[in-house]
Amino acid sequence: MDKLLIRGGNRLSGTLPISGAKNSALTLIPCALLTEEPLTLRNLPRLADIDGFQHLMGQFGVSVAIRGKRPEEFGRVVTFEASRLTSTVAPYDLVRKMRASILVLGPMLARAGEATVSLPGGCAIGNRPIDLHLKALEAMGAEIELAQGYVKAMAPDGGLPGGDFDFPVVSVGATENAVMAAALANGTTRLFNAAREPEIVDLCNLLVAMGAEIEGIGTSDLAIHGVKKLNGATYKVMADRIEAGSYACAAAITGGEVRLEGANANEMQATIHALQQIGIEVESDKAGISVAANDSLRATNLSTAPYPGLATDMQAQLMSLLCRADGTSVLKETIFENRYMHVPELNRMGADIETEGRTAIVKGVERLTGAEVMATDLRASMSLIIAALAATGETTVRRIYHLDRGYERLEEKLQLVGADIERVGDD
Ligand code: EPZ
Repeated sequence: MDKLLIRGGNRLSGTLPISGAKNSALTLIPCALLTEEPLTLRNLPRLADIDGFQHLMGQFGVSVAIRGKRPEEFGRVVTFEASRLTSTVAPYDLVRKMRASILVLGPMLARAGEATVSLPGGCAIGNRPIDLHLKALEAMGAEIELAQGYVKAMAPDGGLPGGDFDFPVVSVGATENAVMAAALANGTTRLFNAAREPEIVDLCNLLVAMGAEIEGIGTSDLAIHGVKKLNGATYKVMADRIEAGSYACAAAITGGEVRLEGANANEMQATIHALQQIGIEVESDKAGISVAANDSLRATNLSTAPYPGLATDMQAQLMSLLCRADGTSVLKETIFENRYMHVPELNRMGADIETEGRTAIVKGVERLTGAEVMATDLRASMSLIIAALAATGETTVRRIYHLDRGYERLEEKLQLVGADIERVGDD
């Protein structure tokens, strides 16, 4: 297994390209199941999770053609063609490696009238149930049964009628599954308290480009009028707002000045506001965002929330930044029950953080020191990298396969802006 060696202390400066959004790509790819025509996605990030999803689509008999792009370029263009399906089953050995596979359930059900998907199981940050995915599909007329660790979903003859569903909890994935299934239903589906994340807007925009009829895009009340057929399309994946926020924290903690090329400020207002509260200068234009940290960092209380609130996927990265702020910050993680796996590792680097349930008390410290640390989940891993960039001495981050799931060519991008970081094989 690879590890990353980081020698802290360099001020980051320069321009860093932002890739396509992992959490959009993972819901755009299964849309290929909703049509027999080719679906071409541009700006797909080169990530382990995307490779995994491409492999899963092949499992169903979908052709996957990776096109163009020289190796030194970021991102890729991929054409998916589901003209005929040879399987409607997403097997355990694939789903267990990538829980986002559950996002084939809705589109496969709508396309083929049935879908069998292994239950994804939990992960490091929580038990991640899928009850809302299933309730929403049942509200649209699906019959759901759970057996031998699999979800089996069936549509009535003639397809899903569609129906109304009021989400008791905002759920990104459940909203995505419901929207994809509703696009091909026989009637109208109204979703209330639906997730409003920019990735949902990206999904709705792709579906509309394929011929879907959706009202309320970007709001928490969606009306999807099912259509008989969806066409193929060519679509560019939105920029990754979490990747951009992560590198903004990396620039800030080193007192650096970095331009995040391709980042879309409109989709990350809460993160930008948090950075500005901490004392970071953020300027944006239509081509990207510039981040500059000149003077000291201010302690700031932050609480995660569903969009347009502060993304839970930014909590760990901002926590690292606040480890170097003057004063004490209180963070509240309201979305997941166990999203402080980075805390013990940050404390081993000299941070002073205490957690009580979903609250973390972060006391700013004069310095962080390099250490041997272990990545546990995707965003926790990034928080360790951010801390290491400002730490005195060398940090070794092991189990970086977590990082490779969500950050395209991370060390190359950080080297572009002057970080002393290298990837080495684990001895
Ligand atoms: C998506 O996960 C993202 N993943 C996560 O990003 C992100 O943290 C999360 O949304 C919240 O923004 C992808 O898009 C691939 P949820 P998802 O359903 O859809 C509970 C990353 O680091 N819930 O919005 O799984 C759930 O337990 C990843 O890139 C139910 O109770 O998140 C959680 O407490 C991590 N029942 C809350 O809702 C359900 O059926 C929000 O989960 C579904 C969810």
